[in-house]
Amino acid sequence: MKPWKLNESNFSILDRLKIAAFFLNPKNNWTFGQKCAEFEDKMADYVGCKHAIFVSSGSTANTMLAMLLKDSESNKKVVVFPSTTWTTSVAPFLREGFTPQFIDVNLYDYSIDLNLLEDYLDSHKDEVAAVFVTSLIGFVPDMARLERIARTYNVRVMMDNCENTMGTFEGRNVSSFFTSTTSTYFGHQLQSVEGGFVFTKNDEERDLFLMYRNHGMTRHVVDKKLYSNKGVDPRFDFFLLGNNFRNSDIHAFIGLLDSARLEKLKQKRLDLYEYFLGKIANFDRYPYSSVIYEHVPFCLPLFFDKNSYKFCAMSFCEKNGIETRPIISGNLLRQTCYKNFGTPSDFPNSEYLHEKAFYVGLHNSVTKEQIDFLTSSLRKFGI
Ligand SMILES: Cc1ncc(COP(=O)(O)O)c(C=O)c1O
Repeated sequence: MKPWKLNESNFSILDRLKIAAFFLNPKNNWTFGQKCAEFEDKMADYVGCKHAIFVSSGSTANTMLAMLLKDSESNKKVVVFPSTTWTTSVAPFLREGFTPQFIDVNLYDYSIDLNLLEDYLDSHKDEVAAVFVTSLIGFVPDMARLERIARTYNVRVMMDNCENTMGTFEGRNVSSFFTSTTSTYFGHQLQSVEGGFVFTKNDEERDLFLMYRNHGMTRHVVDKKLYSNKGVDPRFDFFLLGNNFRNSDIHAFIGLLDSARLEKLKQKRLDLYEYFLGKIANFDRYPYSSVIYEHVPFCLPLFFDKNSYKFCAMSFCEKNGIETRPIISGNLLRQTCYKNFGTPSDFPNSEYLHEKAFYVGLHNSVTKEQIDFLTSSLRKFGI
């Protein structure tokens, strides 16, 4: 059996020749430029969101949301996060001075538990600057309920869809509902080597993101007179405290090559996931797509009844060339940098993911034979 990696490059020899030609043509710009703008147009169109802002990573995209929240919410100090997500979904907000409130995940789609979220908002909504929902490992949360929650509690919802570039709810891409991020890192669903996006439908937010991304300068903003300072040189006009989160035309060119096959890549994930579900006994633990939800998994998670089964299964995989990873952070409250923000046992579903689950890769090169081998070999551990 060929090795089963977490991810493989999608790029063919022809793609590589195109990349080489891009480098060889002296007319091509390599830093931020026209290709970035093209990639942004392509992604705004794909997601169905007015603005897409291309940045250096999903993490810097999240950092810009934290900056936006800091600049727009002067009194509210709490940001609500799920207790299982990637660390750079949380850390940028804490660096901006927000206080985290962790809420357990659910075991239906593995995103934040919306019943617990509503319980919390019932008594704390006035302190909450935002709820930052992660659509974990490519599963789609209940977007209609999230929209209702945002309205009912008058609370801002934003999303980290770094692991979910492709999923849809009622036919709409998951990043088109709220100001959201995704990642185009090599290990994710769409590849530009490194990269990320912020999606927003709000023009003013778009302007702020363009300035956060580019040293706080007004240079990339369309209507500069809204922000310009007549007392300084317009070429170096720093309107706000920004940073450099720009990406490059090289990454955009590579991302554009991959984005040309988005539908094909998505279909492959959907087909392999469906095949996998047909091969396992504990399929009731997995989200199924329906007319409302289109789950395009980021990986194949494996769930066990006992921690010892998980370890045996994981060691079987590693010995047989199948790469494995924990379900993202596991229980974040067990991680050293979050241990002062709560007690791990208060988050039993994150504990379950931490103790009794792991994942293997799902991508264009995974075969049905590999899935047969995995599922038949691990049957004895209850999957
Ligand atoms: C949920 C989530 N958010 C954010 C990120 C950060 O994305 P990037 O690797 O592009 O910085 C990741 C990365 O793995 C992630 O899984």
